[in-house]
Amino acid sequence: MERNRLITKLIKEEYPMNLLLLADPSESLVKQYVARGECYIAVINEETVGVYILLPTRPDTVELVNIAVAEHFHGKGIGKALVLDAIQKAKQYGYKIIEVGTGNSSIGQLALYQKCGFRITGVEKDFFKIHYDEEIVENQIVCVDMIRLAQQL
Ligand code: COA
Repeated sequence: MERNRLITKLIKEEYPMNLLLLADPSESLVKQYVARGECYIAVINEETVGVYILLPTRPDTVELVNIAVAEHFHGKGIGKALVLDAIQKAKQYGYKIIEVGTGNSSIGQLALYQKCGFRITGVEKDFFKIHYDEEIVENQIVCVDMIRLAQQL
């Protein structure tokens, strides 16, 4: 971890749409998340290198959505720091459960979330087939189902 990294709440700045779209190719969904949730960014040397949104869903429950790290900063621990920060913030705000969802093909993300304490709670079958026009393929696996994960805070 570099020393001058900082995770802060986005208040007046513009949303880092390019980063947000790395996590979700649907601009209309991203705009809805941004409007309904709270956005946090990681900044290194004045560059926004990471982002996540905390989205209140049901009573006592918040969802971590749109977590993304700039490609040239992948594999340096920023993603993990953002997930752990989201868990801490959710706890501070008094939520009881934090949830996250990812594609069946997102092997690295599934590893990351489980390493940060999330457990698989279910599968939303055909979620990506229903909600996305373009086929998504990662790790040579077609992304069709959403794996749901959660942890108690
Ligand atoms: N097997 C086991 N562990 C794996 C893994 C695999 N195949 N792939 C990743 N991991 C682990 C890493 O080892 C690391 O854990 P560790 O610190 O205990 O070693 C952790 O997952 C993630 O590493 P980190 O460097 O913190 O992640 P990152 O900064 O590269 O960010 C993402 C991760 C997912 C945010 C980043 O890849 C990204 O922006 N992807 C595009 C957007 C996206 O997919 N968002 C999520 C939508 S659900």
